[in-house]
Amino acid sequence: MTKHVLVTGGAGYIGSHACKALRDAGYTPVAFDNLVTGWQDAVKFGPFEQGDLLDRSRLDAVFAKWRPVAVMHFAALSQVGESMSMPGKYWLNNVMGSLNLFEASIAAGCLNVVFSSTCATYGDHDNVVLDETTPQHPINAYGASKRAIEDMLRDFGASNGVNAVVFRYFNVAGADPEAEVGEFHRPETHLIPLMLDAIDGKRGALTIFGTDYDTPDGTCIRDYVHVCDLVDAHVLGLKWLEDGRESRVFNLGTGMGFSVREVVSASRTVTNRDVPIIEGERRAGDCTRLVSGSSRAVQELGWRPKRSDMATMIADAWRWHQSGSYER
Ligand code: UFG
Repeated sequence: MTKHVLVTGGAGYIGSHACKALRDAGYTPVAFDNLVTGWQDAVKFGPFEQGDLLDRSRLDAVFAKWRPVAVMHFAALSQVGESMSMPGKYWLNNVMGSLNLFEASIAAGCLNVVFSSTCATYGDHDNVVLDETTPQHPINAYGASKRAIEDMLRDFGASNGVNAVVFRYFNVAGADPEAEVGEFHRPETHLIPLMLDAIDGKRGALTIFGTDYDTPDGTCIRDYVHVCDLVDAHVLGLKWLEDGRESRVFNLGTGMGFSVREVVSASRTVTNRDVPIIEGERRAGDCTRLVSGSSRAVQELGWRPKRSDMATMIADAWRWHQSGSYER
């Protein structure tokens, strides 16, 4: 019998890739999305249920209809800058929405949760490799909202038997190598898609946000992980829960830091095109350096990233950018 997995945010960038990975692993992903930031045409690998996490009766109906064996919870607002100017929006959508989801899930007897958290929960720890034991001191409301949801899961674990695998993502990049799905945010705020748009003239020059950071070339350092590797870890996390193993937190990153200038330079090499850039001011809420200590997922989950080298991530994103599907 087919096993259904409820994928909140299943019409979004990471959620749509997760649906493909789940389909490929023999599950039926049920994408649940309010289409505020997601795209219905990204739902290709299983049924679609339109709905909002703030609508409890809609959630109850979806749980009753599909009886999922687990929830993969991606749905969230995720713009760091916006979270600084509109924190209430993040507490309502991310935290209240998750509370509704978990209560509906518990009521339906679905106790396995794979949750999409972020390295933004750690905050600024300059020059430290961040592992899962690093204290969490988020410096933006987005990170604070995700940390609150992690806390919520811990409490529901103690009181209701919820089992959760929490993944703290570093910077997710790349696209499905078959270009069936890919990254498409409106507005777009992320470095690599903005850069590819600048390269092929879809928008103006890329602004580098700050060149006076305390890093070797003055620009921020991030740890980029391929979206396909990231969602593979989610399938392993789901199996971990199905095997009855304990709740666990895992970082998902490669442990390698790239500065903004290094990403720009790699894009020049991969696309063989010029990247028009402007050197601008720092962006509020940006940490100087976020690099993962990522051995736990490798050792305990058996996670083996395959496409997370910078050239492959940019090449896959570039292929998606040039595909017909990118032009929505
Ligand atoms: N950057 C630029 N110019 C741009 C866009 C980004 O210089 O036009 C820089 C940023 O300042 C940052 C790096 O490129 O140094 C990466 O920025 P992204 O916006 O692509 O990603 P972030 O690191 O800001 O955000 C990502 C996730 C968030 C998560 C965060 C953790 O998208 O969900 O990592 O800090 F919260």
